[in-house]
Amino acid sequence: MENSIHVKNLSFRYSVGTPFETTAINDVSFAVQKGDFIGIIGHTGSGKSTLMQHLNGLLKQTCGEVWVNGRNIRAKGVNIRDVRFEVGLVFQYSEHQLFEETVFKDIAFGPRNMKERFKLTDKQIEKRVLTAANFMGVHESWLQRSPFDLSGGQKRRVALAGVIAMQPQILILDEPAAGLDPLGREKILRFISEYHQKAGITVILVSHSMEDIVKHANKVLVMNKGEVFCYEKTEKVFAKADEIIEIGLGVPQITRLCQKLKGRGVDLGKNVYTVEKAVERIMEIHSNSGDYSQLN
Ligand SMILES: Nc1ncnc2c1ncn2[C@@H]1O[C@H](COP(=O)(O)OP(=O)(O)OP(=O)(O)O)[C@@H](O)[C@H]1O
Ligand SMILES: [Mg+2]
Repeated sequence: MENSIHVKNLSFRYSVGTPFETTAINDVSFAVQKGDFIGIIGHTGSGKSTLMQHLNGLLKQTCGEVWVNGRNIRAKGVNIRDVRFEVGLVFQYSEHQLFEETVFKDIAFGPRNMKERFKLTDKQIEKRVLTAANFMGVHESWLQRSPFDLSGGQKRRVALAGVIAMQPQILILDEPAAGLDPLGREKILRFISEYHQKAGITVILVSHSMEDIVKHANKVLVMNKGEVFCYEKTEKVFAKADEIIEIGLGVPQITRLCQKLKGRGVDLGKNVYTVEKAVERIMEIHSNSGDYSQLN
């Protein structure tokens, strides 16, 4: 399988040569395959946003390499602008970047910037806007309204549609659900997940919520103090639940419940991280033992 992204021994220091010099990421390596949905989790200050900004060349590493779609993005002859069209980056609180008079114009801003390079017609731009709006649940009746008349969650979805309208092959989302209420969170993550499936692109999602990540990601990268703590398939990562809790990160509630059950002699196995999986395991135990006495 082809790699979308390959990060090799990447390190970055802010404010080099000043008293404020900080190592934000240190010797980070990982590869993302085409079509993967990667969840990235880690403490505040663990280097997640810094790492994401290297993946489309917004920050230039102190050492190491970033490869996108099979080429080193800092190699001679690679146009970093082209890389930014391939790798769409949605920042934390992306709605702060809305500025146009209408929702339509805001979503069209990215494709308009690509117009010359990709020879897009106005008709094609309009089609991209409508398709992206549809993917992000941006209602057609909002398109001629000011983005500032919308709610927080709706504005966030408009900002996301603006990046999707550029049709990047790799979509990076830094805390797309931060600050939204539970319904808003659920909605935005569902739209992202559906878009990932329908468009068949690669998604990298940074989140503080392990619950959100396990629902959508097929692999999880845990950052700790600027380094990769672990990078595993989602179903494998909770085999390390004890270590993850030890570095102060949460695991899904259901995983904690399983640990408690294990303490009482009921072992549902190591990789139970969704309620559905727990139910499945309990039913298996029940059908094997013929009763629930193990679960008392
Ligand atoms: N612009 C900056 N100048 C100097 N240091 C910075 C800058 N941005 C981040 N840092 C430092 O780099 C380290 C990594 O920060 P980063 O923002 O990448 O972490 P994060 O994992 O995204 O955190 P959060 O979960 O709070 O968003 C921290 O020590 C932070 O203080
Ligand atoms: Mg961050």
